[in-house]
Amino acid sequence: MIHYLKRDAFSGHLRAPASKGISPILRAKIRINGESERCYLKPLTDFIACPDTGKPVVNQEIVSEALGYVLASTCGLSTPSIAGIIALGKDQLPQDLLSELEEIGGSIQPSYLCWFSKDMEHPNLKQRHLSGINLPSLEERRLRRLAQFLAKHADAAKIVAFDDWLLNSDRNMGNILQASLGALMLIDHGRILAYPNWTPGSVGSMPWRAQNVLESFINRFTPRWSELLPISSGKLMALNSYASSYRSAGAIASKSVLSNFFEPTDVEAIIALIDGRLDPAPYAKAAGLML
Ligand SMILES: Nc1ncnc2c1ncn2[C@@H]1O[C@H](COP(=O)(O)OP(=O)(O)OP(=O)(O)O)[C@@H](O)[C@H]1O
Ligand SMILES: [Mg+2]
Repeated sequence: MIHYLKRDAFSGHLRAPASKGISPILRAKIRINGESERCYLKPLTDFIACPDTGKPVVNQEIVSEALGYVLASTCGLSTPSIAGIIALGKDQLPQDLLSELEEIGGSIQPSYLCWFSKDMEHPNLKQRHLSGINLPSLEERRLRRLAQFLAKHADAAKIVAFDDWLLNSDRNMGNILQASLGALMLIDHGRILAYPNWTPGSVGSMPWRAQNVLESFINRFTPRWSELLPISSGKLMALNSYASSYRSAGAIASKSVLSNFFEPTDVEAIIALIDGRLDPAPYAKAAGLML
């Protein structure tokens, strides 16, 4: 379901991305199954500074990206049609990215595992709804309009439930793409399980409390949106459907990703953690339903 590629699949740089988040990111052509695909690539360092302690810890972001992608896809959420991991040498990365990576990881590595996804050519929600604002008072109105668009969108409750399940601490407006017909596509799962300092069997830790970013954003402009019956029952239905997809396909796809990185006992611990978070009881209670 995801591709694992060596450096020779890389076939050239493309123009730098128009919109970027906090991570070093590039656009490039990659050869996949004989086709040249235009992709976004995010090189990830082997270590990061733990936000709690400041000490270097293993960076699980590449695993989080892959896991989030296979889970979203097997749960029927919209994701880029092609994605995977490519190992690139430092000689294949632009100098400015290497400097950013040095700052994140503490040194320049000989090679980097990069998360890549096919460039779907859709703008993210920030680009589509919030670009070109010069007046602070206008910004608030545009934020409100975006939040109201999302409050009415059929996918919003599903995305909130997905992010609750996987403890995604980073569903900002740059991490949802919007196709022209309004369909929402999920990218960037680097911060599932709270933060990429997670270890098998336990979620990551941050000095701040993780919250559901999308839900908080919508609730800010439509107070108690997530408590409305169609939304709370929509979240419950979504979680139940994720539980069934996970048990029929998602767990197998996840194990296949995880076994590239971890020993079998660690794979089982991560699977148990994800499975354990599929409990519908809190959602059923919020929706006023008995199980
Ligand atoms: N497959 C894709 N198709 C289209 N655009 C993409 C794709 N992947 C990434 N992008 C664009 O690149 C931007 C940055 O990518 P991404 O969100 O993965 O990086 P990030 O730096 O980890 O973000 P964050 O600041 O949320 O942590 C996205 O907001 C989006 O506009
Ligand atoms: Mg992002």
